[in-house]
Amino acid sequence: MAYETIIVEVEDHVCTIKLNRPDALNALNSHLLGELGDALTDADQNDKVRCIIITGSTKAFAAGADIKEMSEKSYVDMFLSDFFGREGETICRTRKPIIAAVAGYALGGGCELAMMCDFIIAADTAKFGQPEINLGVMPGLGGTQRLTRFVGKSKAMEMNLTGRFMDADEAERSGLVSRVVPAKTLMEEARAAADKIAEKSMLTTIAVKEAVNRAYETTLSEGLLYERRLFHSLFATDDQKEGMAAFTEKRSAQFRDR
Ligand code: HXC
Repeated sequence: MAYETIIVEVEDHVCTIKLNRPDALNALNSHLLGELGDALTDADQNDKVRCIIITGSTKAFAAGADIKEMSEKSYVDMFLSDFFGREGETICRTRKPIIAAVAGYALGGGCELAMMCDFIIAADTAKFGQPEINLGVMPGLGGTQRLTRFVGKSKAMEMNLTGRFMDADEAERSGLVSRVVPAKTLMEEARAAADKIAEKSMLTTIAVKEAVNRAYETTLSEGLLYERRLFHSLFATDDQKEGMAAFTEKRSAQFRDR
């Protein structure tokens, strides 16, 4: 499909979606988020795709929701359109793993988009922040909720109240990103992680993603039970038999998603 604000490439088993509004530092407008949702839905339905990468440019992953699009909107406009609610749900509904490969600014909605992905690999140039307070508003796509769960109350509160940016090292120390890599190797590293994921059984991959996400939604005992039941259920699959046989036979497993 031809898109105007994103570039989508499927190579082998990995779908890479590059946000592409360079003149606006990839600011997220309705058009871009609509296209991103369509691309993610397509990737989820495409049997060839086993992992997704969302990335931006070297200067900006995304500098936030598009301020120019939002500036004239009224409360009624925002409420009736449930501004970016549907778009956010589409991203989070994606069943296949999504890696955010972040270089440069990931601010406001950009930081929130990165946090909606399953994990973040950051270039050493990455800067994360929730500067909405400087615009007389606040985050609307998870900046007060997901960021607090990732980095704890004190840091999340400070970032949301002052608009301070966090550099890549601080983001790694705080648990916001899984890893920091040199900017020039960002896509290579993201791609290597995606290739590793693509080798696994898709059944297991989806079960793991669901179980980890459950940790944010439920109590520990419910989460542990959910995990254990999913673990048990994987013994109904051919891929469990193959994975364990391959270990015993000292060969690599050939998973068939069955
Ligand atoms: C629209 C944006 C933009 C944004 C940058 N641009 N961020 N346009 N919305 N969020 C545009 C600028 O207007 C400018 O266009 C061009 O991109 C380059 O930006 P500069 O400011 O000239 O670049 P620089 O001086 O390097 O500063 C980079 C920056 C700054 C620090 C990232 O652009 C900035 O502070 N941006 C806004 C960050 C922000 O407040 N984000 C939160 C948005 S609210 P022109 O045409 O002038 O050249 C939000 C709410 C989410 O995200 C909730 C959703 C439900």
